[in-house]
Amino acid sequence: MTLFLIFMAALVPVIAIVIHTLLTGSPPTPSSPKVQAKLMAMLPDALDGSVIYELGSGWGGLAVALSKRYPRCRVIGLERSHLPWLISRMRGALRRRHGGDLTFLRQDIFTTPLHEAGLVCCYLLSPTMEKLRPKFQHELPHGSRVACLNFAVPHWKPVQTQQATDLYATKIYLYRVPDSIPYR
Ligand SMILES: C[S@@+](CC[C@H](N)C(=O)[O-])C[C@H]1O[C@@H](n2cnc3c(N)ncnc32)[C@H](O)[C@@H]1O
Repeated sequence: MTLFLIFMAALVPVIAIVIHTLLTGSPPTPSSPKVQAKLMAMLPDALDGSVIYELGSGWGGLAVALSKRYPRCRVIGLERSHLPWLISRMRGALRRRHGGDLTFLRQDIFTTPLHEAGLVCCYLLSPTMEKLRPKFQHELPHGSRVACLNFAVPHWKPVQTQQATDLYATKIYLYRVPDSIPYR
C-alpha cells in the first residue's frame, strides 16, 4: 500500500506535466546555461525602469538569470504548468530575499497584456510564436526588445542573430520594435 502511494505521488506530477504539455504544445524544457549566457551577452547593458517578461518561464531558471542581470528591473515569469510554476515560485522567493524584483504568475501568456514590456524573452515552439506575433505587434511599445531561443518570430527581421555553443548550436534571435517589423 505504501509503495502504491509513493508511486502515485510521483506519477501525479508527471501526468500533470504531460497534460500541460499537450495543452500548451511546449514541454517545460529548461534553456541551458550556455544558451542563457549567450543571450545575456546579446542584451543591452541597461533596461532601467522596464518590465521584463519571460513567456513560458518553466522552472524559472531563465527568469532568475534575467533578474540577476537587470537587478533594477521588474521581472515577471508567466507559466501555466503547475509543477514548474510551483518550483519557480520558490526560486522567486529566494531571489526576492536578495533584493530582486521577480514574480512568477500562473497565467496564460496570451491573456497577459505586454504594454509595459521593455524586454520579452521566449523559448516556445514555432506555432506558439506564430500565434504571438499579432499580439506582439499590437501591444509591445516602441523601443522594446524580443529575444527568442531557437524559434524565431515568423516574418520579423532580427537586429541580431547568434548561435550558442551548446550541443544543439541553439540560435538566439533578438528583435527590436518597430525596426524588426516589416509592416505595422
Ligand atoms: C521550453 S519551456 C521554456 C522554459 C524557460 N523559458 C527556460 O528557458 O528555461 C516552455 C514553457 O512554456 C510554457 N507555456 C507554453 N505555452 C504557454 C502558455 N500559453 N501560457 C503559459 N505558459 C506556456 C510551457 O508550459 C513550458 O513550461
